[in-house]
Amino acid sequence: MEFYLDTAEIEEIREIAGWGVLSGVTTNPTLVAKSGRDLKEVVIEIAEIVKGPVSAEVIATDTEGMVAEARELARLSGHVVIKIPVTPEGLAATRRLAEEGIPVNMTLVFSLPQALLAARAGARYVSPFLGRIDDIGGDGVGLVREIAEAFGIHGIETKIIAASIRQPRHVVEAALAGADIATVPYKVMKQLVKHPLTDAGIARFLEDWRRAHQG
Ligand code: E4P
Repeated sequence: MEFYLDTAEIEEIREIAGWGVLSGVTTNPTLVAKSGRDLKEVVIEIAEIVKGPVSAEVIATDTEGMVAEARELARLSGHVVIKIPVTPEGLAATRRLAEEGIPVNMTLVFSLPQALLAARAGARYVSPFLGRIDDIGGDGVGLVREIAEAFGIHGIETKIIAASIRQPRHVVEAALAGADIATVPYKVMKQLVKHPLTDAGIARFLEDWRRAHQG
């Protein structure tokens, strides 16, 4: 499973990219607003650091507006992927963009039919939102599992991005449910690498080494 970082904060991206495990980045209007940066500037900067898919979301809600914004964003870098919500207008925009060779990540996916329609429209990625489904008492990981199973049965090549990840357990379950990618917030990414036994193990190895080499 690939790891994307779900953020618009350049310093967070630089740090995690430095681990050598980052395949891409996803942003959304909330994350960009929180960064206080201009969308286009931030997308260009992220694409230079990551050199992998960078999802940037359109603001327009009508098909023509989405297509126009998407074309502008796609011109910023060859790494840009256009994030489009799964609505009738979004599906129509995705179909047009797919025909132009512009990759689309259909976002705000909360059901298998939405994921199947997104794939049919030509989306390269679908993003089921695990955390938000769990928030309303649903089974976010169950949705990822259903999508993975249906895509497998039908030979659909659209990649599944497990999104709205709130805790390390979500990453474990998304991997086992068949997600191709997990897009993970910075805080959760830091939690993923930590284990108290790793820290304790390093401390003990170093202590034993020192003792043996101090005569
Ligand atoms: C995914 O692409 C979204 O940017 C993100 O995962 C949403 O997460 P949230 O539900 O925690 O806002």
